[in-house]
Amino acid sequence: ATNRTFTMIKPDAVANGHIGAILNDIIAGGFKIVAMKYIQLNEETAGNFYGVHRERPFYGELVRFMTSGPIVAAILEKENAVEDFRTLIGATDPSKAVEGTIRNKYAKSIDANAVHGSDSDENAAIEGNFFFSMFERF
Ligand code: CMP
Repeated sequence: ATNRTFTMIKPDAVANGHIGAILNDIIAGGFKIVAMKYIQLNEETAGNFYGVHRERPFYGELVRFMTSGPIVAAILEKENAVEDFRTLIGATDPSKAVEGTIRNKYAKSIDANAVHGSDSDENAAIEGNFFFSMFERF
């Protein structure tokens, strides 16, 4: 397994003032920030990023929500990064997220679920490459 994953702090968590608290939890969880930017997705960029979900019933709402305000995108580094980050953030549906996880603390619904985390090493690399050039990684 590689030691990197990709995350976004989603528009709900940004709008609700949780950027700082979430970054604190990520760093306290042992992750190093390799790359980070504050940006807003549009229909085209969100559609490209979430292309794998195009046929899913929640796709339209997903793109609408993810383009609704700015996000923080980041590449994170830690041993066993993908799996450990998914443990730190908790289940996709925040009502099922374990107590103390980022989604348990900051998420409101399955769409407005505060953060994204890559689901595999392969997707972590694809998603990180989507947002960041080699000159933006440290
Ligand atoms: P994310 O990890 O960013 O990837 C796809 C997103 O779709 C997911 O987080 C959820 O916020 C959203 N979503 C909405 N409904 C569902 C669902 N039924 N299953 C999975 N993801 C969903």
